[in-house]
Amino acid sequence: MSKIATLEIGGKKYELPVITGTENEVAIDIAALRGATNGVITIDPGFKNTGSCESAITFLDGEEGILRYRGYAIEDLAEKASFLEVAYLLIFGELPTKEQLEKFHTDIKIESQVDEDIKKILDGFPKSAHPMGVLSSLTSALVAFNPSSVNVESPEDMYKAIVKILGKFPVLTAWAYRKRAGLPLDYGDDSLTYVENFLQMMFKKPNGSYKVNPVVADALDKLLILHADHEQNCSTSTVRMVGSSHVGLFASLSAGISALWGPLHGGANQAVIEMLEAIREDGGDTHRYMAKAKDKDDPFRLMGFGHRVYKNFDPRAKIIKKSADQVLEALGIQDEVLDIAKGLEKEALEDSYFVDRKLYPNVDFYSGIIYRALGIPEEMFTAMFALGRLPGWIAQWREMRLRKEPIGRPRQVYVGETHRPFVNIEKR
Ligand code: CMC
Repeated sequence: MSKIATLEIGGKKYELPVITGTENEVAIDIAALRGATNGVITIDPGFKNTGSCESAITFLDGEEGILRYRGYAIEDLAEKASFLEVAYLLIFGELPTKEQLEKFHTDIKIESQVDEDIKKILDGFPKSAHPMGVLSSLTSALVAFNPSSVNVESPEDMYKAIVKILGKFPVLTAWAYRKRAGLPLDYGDDSLTYVENFLQMMFKKPNGSYKVNPVVADALDKLLILHADHEQNCSTSTVRMVGSSHVGLFASLSAGISALWGPLHGGANQAVIEMLEAIREDGGDTHRYMAKAKDKDDPFRLMGFGHRVYKNFDPRAKIIKKSADQVLEALGIQDEVLDIAKGLEKEALEDSYFVDRKLYPNVDFYSGIIYRALGIPEEMFTAMFALGRLPGWIAQWREMRLRKEPIGRPRQVYVGETHRPFVNIEKR
């Protein structure tokens, strides 16, 4: 592949460097375009063809259905690693040794207390508040309780900020749920693993002990690994963009949580289960919903289907589908909705509308069925995604700051009114 691309505008030729990634992804570097052409820019709504950065964290091949964190296959990590190991890998670039992992977990536990005054903020929310709104607000509020800014040049400062948020975020997530459920707030138990402790913080009743079911803990650990990073998606790009103004880690994460909330992104997992439930209540008539999804005059979309990058099976969906079967069997749960999901998938994979557009089930299609089997209520599904995505957001924020990336500030092509005279209010 040539190292130069030639662009011709108005009969004049410009040479632009071509860069190649370690997996042979090719990009035209247009950083010098505007200066060289006296003002010409590129336009690409939704960034469908635009790389925002070079990154060494996650590799994704949407045509082949490949996903790797720091070079390791998602299938291997989901099978063989723990969520905390994967978090360490994503953030620091290598799998931890036993000692590194122990220290990492200990440091996270030390930082897992949340200022008691945060409870007052939580108290101000109505019980009906969506957990994602609560989580975004409380993560932002952490800034006020930890005001010292992180010196990104200092590895110690950076490490401290990272273990702080990894310690406090599961507490805030569990509290967002407990507030809604009318349960007293709990701080968990230091003797448990990261995921077991989270489950205990969620489900321990004030008048009883909570025994973690290993099937539940393993399934959740796997789900969190599968959600841990996905390169430059909407929420991650948001974290990098917000962080590029040099606002701190917690404020950047709070913005990422809001971005994740939307139904086209992380909010799809809640939307999928609501859709499956609606189909069940409708008597399981999948054809009607397939027809609605294909009807261009109907805003309905088959939630959990399609992906900006995957034009093949989402490798995470494959793992989750298998896991859904195993978890439901191990817990002795029969869920009619799983059969509806499988039926919809089969129908879609044979339907020319979905085949032609390369629309396959994505990570969110089956995850809700597992969350439900684990006892996690629907309105917490996207918060679970946020808990899983946290290490990815941190890793991407850290990379962006260490690479000293400039502030994110896209250009635009103005298509509004040209200059016109001001009209006094009496004359309008
Ligand atoms: N149901 C019906 N039609 C669809 C769907 C769907 N779920 N997804 C895409 N299409 C159609 C779309 O109407 C368009 O058709 P046409 O070419 O005739 O106009 C074509 O497929 C391409 O879709 P697009 O909207 O241009 O693709 P995109 O890359 O902008 O959007 C997406 C990707 C994920 C937002 C979209 O597929 C979607 O809305 N899916 C449902 C929501 C969902 O499951 N989101 C979770 C994504 S994975 C987890 C995450 O990122 O958080």
